[in-house]
Amino acid sequence: MLKRLQEATGYLKEKTKGASPLIGMITGTGLGEITELMNLEQRIPYAHIPHFPIPTTESHKGNLLIGEIQGKTLMAMEGRLHAYEGYSPEEVTFPVRLMSLLGVKYLFISSAAGGLNPQLERGDLVVITDQINMTGLSALRGPNLDAFGPRFPDMTRVYDRELLRTAERIAVKQGVGLKRGVYIGVIGPNLETPAETRFYRRAGADVIGMSTVLETTVAVHCGMKVLAIIAVTNVNLPDCMQETSIEMVIDAANLAAPRLAFLWKEIALEVAAI
Ligand code: HPA
Repeated sequence: MLKRLQEATGYLKEKTKGASPLIGMITGTGLGEITELMNLEQRIPYAHIPHFPIPTTESHKGNLLIGEIQGKTLMAMEGRLHAYEGYSPEEVTFPVRLMSLLGVKYLFISSAAGGLNPQLERGDLVVITDQINMTGLSALRGPNLDAFGPRFPDMTRVYDRELLRTAERIAVKQGVGLKRGVYIGVIGPNLETPAETRFYRRAGADVIGMSTVLETTVAVHCGMKVLAIIAVTNVNLPDCMQETSIEMVIDAANLAAPRLAFLWKEIALEVAAI
């Protein structure tokens, strides 16, 4: 694994003339325009990067974007990898470890999610305060990669408190609605039954999605500071559950994307200035 990552890192270092990105971004379904927040310098197809897995989902592209914001380098994934596509946890998190080897200190994550908390509405933005990994998967299984972090990483603060405060302060200042919530990650690709939704809500989750938790766990292992803001694309309440289609999810994500992109830009500007 380490050798594969080092080969990919070597390729990217050469391709980007040794650029050292400060911020890494992973965006989800319908939220790709967030990557327009930077001055794009390079768009590198995943297929050109040694050992990089290629996403199969139609709504996801497959490029690594290198850009600049406030004089700092930002690296963003245009197209994400999900466990439901059949990728192993190691493949899903390959880009996170790659970012770490390239020097990324801050990982910004966005994704589409269902709202389990009855106070959430379709189109709401939610900053994640904590997570529950229900996928039954972990990329940390197997021999520990000591070069990245410890065998038993602490998970009391997956989402960085300071970044969380920064996001909330900027949201208030800019007049962008931002709620707080706990994210529960499931493997998918099927949506939940009403009984499952009831169970996940009682377990303490506010939003539910099919990504994020594997990547954030690896990011914590690598010592990165993580901030995740999700868009509620559908209301997922057990006792008045409505059928949800991928089109509905993409529509709602597209609706939330400009607000989210604006918020990310303001956050990235502030973090890049630190
Ligand atoms: N459940 C799981 N994943 C999702 C949902 C949902 O309701 N909406 C968007 N991603």
